[in-house]
Amino acid sequence: MPDQATLNHAAQVLAGISADQRADTALRFYFEGRRYLQPPVKRVISHTVFVYFRWLSWLDSKASPQKRLEQAVALHERFMADPKSVKAETLAVRAVPAWLWTELDFPADAAGETTAKADYLRQLQRDPALWLRARPGKGAALAKSLFACESTERAVDALRFTGTQDLFKTEQFKTGEFEIQDLASQLVGHAAAPVPGETWWDACAGEGGKTLHLADLMQNKGVVWATDRNEKRIDTLKRRAARAKLFNFRTEFWDGGSRLPTKVKFDGILLDAPCSGVGTWQRNPHARWTTTPDDVRELAATQLALLNNVAGSLKPKGRLIYAVCTLTRSETTAVADAFAAAHPELEPLPLAIAKPGSPDPSRVTLWPQEINANGMFIAGWRKKT
Ligand SMILES: C[S@@+](CC[C@H](N)C(=O)[O-])C[C@H]1O[C@@H](n2cnc3c(N)ncnc32)[C@H](O)[C@@H]1O
Repeated sequence: MPDQATLNHAAQVLAGISADQRADTALRFYFEGRRYLQPPVKRVISHTVFVYFRWLSWLDSKASPQKRLEQAVALHERFMADPKSVKAETLAVRAVPAWLWTELDFPADAAGETTAKADYLRQLQRDPALWLRARPGKGAALAKSLFACESTERAVDALRFTGTQDLFKTEQFKTGEFEIQDLASQLVGHAAAPVPGETWWDACAGEGGKTLHLADLMQNKGVVWATDRNEKRIDTLKRRAARAKLFNFRTEFWDGGSRLPTKVKFDGILLDAPCSGVGTWQRNPHARWTTTPDDVRELAATQLALLNNVAGSLKPKGRLIYAVCTLTRSETTAVADAFAAAHPELEPLPLAIAKPGSPDPSRVTLWPQEINANGMFIAGWRKKT
C-alpha cells in the first residue's frame, strides 16, 4: 500500500483532473510544478492514479479521495495476486463503459469468443508492459547492456523492459540507442515495411514515433515526409530524430484537408490516424470514462476523410497503411470497408505481420491480451497500376 504522502499527492492529481484534461496530462503538469520529486516517487504516484481509474466503478463515491485511492490499490493488489478472483462478468459491467460492447468483435479462435473477452478484460486491469525499440539489428546488444529486457517473437528489436531504472537518464537513451515505443506501434512500422531508398509519407506523424521507425528501417536512405497539423508535435519529432541521428526525413504542416502538402507521389503512405484510443485503455484507464460513442463516430468520419485525401498521392504499386490504436468496429473494419468500396484502383495488401493462415492478411487486429501491449488495427492496400 502506498504511504500517506503518496496518497496525498495522488489525491491532489485527481483534484486537478477536469473534463478536458486527461490523467496523464494532469500528472505531467503536477510533476512539472514539483521537480523535487524523484523518479521512483513519481512512478508510485502515477501508478496509484492509474489504478484508481482502473477500479473506479468499485469505489465508494462518498469516501474521501485518499480512502478511495486506498480502496483502489487494495482491489488492484488482490486482483494482481489472483486475476481470477474477479469474475469476467463483473469486469464486463464495471471495468469499461457499457457502450463498448456494441463496438467490439472478438476473435473467434479455438478457445471461443467468451475466453477472448475474459482475457481482454483481465488484461485491461493489469499494469501495462513497457516496450523499447532498439535500433535495427541492435536488440540483443541493447538487452545485454540495459539488463531486465525480454525479446519477443512478434517484432525484431522489440524489448519488454522489466527493470526500474529511469530509462531517460541512461546513456543508451541519450545516445539514441533505443526509443520507448509500444509493441503495437512497432508492429505498424513492420507492417509498412519500407525499403531503403523509397519515398514515404507519414501523414499523421505527431511526435514522430513511427516516422523514426520508418526512417530507421530505411537505413537513413530515401526520405520520409512527416506531416501533422500540430506544429509543436513536429518540433518534438525533430528533436527525437536528432537524438537518433536520423536525417532521411522532412517535415511539413498538413491540416488533413484536401489541399495536400506536396504533389510528390509516394512508394508508401502511413496514415496513423487520430482515433478514440480504446486500444490504450490499459495504459490510460482514465480514457475509459471520458471517451464517448460520439467521439467514435466523429473520429471514424475523420479517418475516412483523411484516407480519401491521401489516396491520390500513391505511385503505381504504392502501398497505403491505415493504423488506429483503437478496436471499435466503427473506426476499424467499417472505415476500411467504406474506403475500399470507394477505391477500386486499390487492392488489399497482405501484411508481413499477419498471422500465417489468416483469412484476410491485409487486415490485422492486435489485441492487448495477445501481445501484452496496446490494441491496434492495421489495414493495407496497394495501388493496382
Ligand atoms: C495517433 S496520433 C499520431 C501518432 C504518431 N504517428 C506517432 O507514432 O507518434 C494522430 C495525429 O494526427 C493528428 N491529427 C489529428 N487530426 C488531424 C487531422 N484532421 N488532420 C491531420 N492530422 C490530424 C494529431 O495531431 C496527431 O498527431
